[in-house]
Amino acid sequence: MGALLVLTIFHDPIIHVYAGEGVPNVALFTFGDSYYDVGNKVFLSTNKNPPQTMWPYGKSRDDPNGKFSDGYIVPDFIAEFMSIPNGIPPALKSGANFSRGACFAVADASILGAPAESMTLSQQVNKFRSMISTWSDDYIEKSLFMIYIGTEDYLNFSKTNPTASAAAQQAFVTSVTNKLKTDISVLYSLGASKFAVTLLAPLGCLPIVRQEYKTGNDCYEPLNDLARQHNEKIGPMLNEFARKPNGGFQFTVFDYYNAVIRRTRRSINYRFYVTNSSCCGQGSHNAYGCGFVNVHSKLCEYQRSYFFFDGRHNSEKAQEELANLLYGANTNVMLPMTVRELIVFPAKENMREFWEPNKQSLRRRRRRSSRDYLDLAAYY
Ligand SMILES: *[C@@H]1O[C@H](CO)[C@@H](O)[C@H](O)[C@H]1NC(C)=O
Ligand SMILES: *[C@@H]1O[C@H](CO)[C@@H](O)[C@H](O)[C@H]1NC(C)=O
Ligand SMILES: *[C@@H]1O[C@H](CO)[C@@H](O)[C@H](O)[C@H]1NC(C)=O
Repeated sequence: MGALLVLTIFHDPIIHVYAGEGVPNVALFTFGDSYYDVGNKVFLSTNKNPPQTMWPYGKSRDDPNGKFSDGYIVPDFIAEFMSIPNGIPPALKSGANFSRGACFAVADASILGAPAESMTLSQQVNKFRSMISTWSDDYIEKSLFMIYIGTEDYLNFSKTNPTASAAAQQAFVTSVTNKLKTDISVLYSLGASKFAVTLLAPLGCLPIVRQEYKTGNDCYEPLNDLARQHNEKIGPMLNEFARKPNGGFQFTVFDYYNAVIRRTRRSINYRFYVTNSSCCGQGSHNAYGCGFVNVHSKLCEYQRSYFFFDGRHNSEKAQEELANLLYGANTNVMLPMTVRELIVFPAKENMREFWEPNKQSLRRRRRRSSRDYLDLAAYY
């Protein structure tokens, strides 16, 4: 009797082998820039000793390993939650075991333009296409696709167009998000159906940006503004994919922007003692040159008290927190569902809930003051 009930309740009870916590053994694919790069950049660098392969990168784990952190990065933790042994390998590492997925993200990647010694998102998607016979269609459809990209586009735009008008900014944001939409639609046409998209960080609060724009203890607001304009377009864009009848496009959005803002404004609540400068580097915000062989950079004593390890990447402790948010936070942070829910949601079905602007972002739009973030519940 019990067995009969179980069979009728669960959608597809026979095929999967369930890993820990009831999550099926599917693959993880990451696309984007250095935040999700587990070592691809090393294969594209002419520099024989790129910084991320040098001490003190990786120091909290073992040795430098090509990741931009003192240890693990978000995809390592997500892989762990998905019971993927030893994380996912870089796609550019030939002969690696890709049975549980691959990392296509490369440091310095952008959506537009031609990034040096890196790949655009569409080049990453083409690389995936070239390897697609590694996985079955059914497996790809059930697997998780994580994307974080755009930082490089906006840092570059801000540098090359420091006095861009509001109209020029809007036009640039539209061209970036339109291209992102095209790249996602290509992945979807290749059989991907579960997307976890991370919104851009408040780019003006990165230590390297504060240092270069000499903003002291403040964030550089023009870059935060670009990131917000970009972020506002992501949820509606993904809704559009997901609302196509019988399309089976599923997604969730991580509000990384506000997760960072909360941690920089109420750092002690999250047990970070320094959020306005980096642990490793040199300069006013200790933000430049970590791992460079010819730069005498400083290293903080206790990495876990820093939110940023280098000028633009989080410490391992912060990465772990962010991965936990992706996997299990409430709808203030993950909309419309957590990554765990996205993985277990039956493939081919349309979502029943969609992304919608939450109360905080509505309030933000009305008043546009950064003080508003102080109102948020501090727990996420
Ligand atoms: C590849 O990894 C999977 C587990 O992730 C393992 O079951 C399989 O045996 C490995 N294949 C090879 C050729 O090592
Ligand atoms: C940076 O901007 C310049 C000028 O618009 C452009 O030519 C270049 O391709 C951009 N680089 C990247 C990586 O987007
Ligand atoms: C960072 O914040 C601390 C404490 O609020 C402050 O003393 C310090 O000057 C700030 N650092 C920079 C580079 O603005």
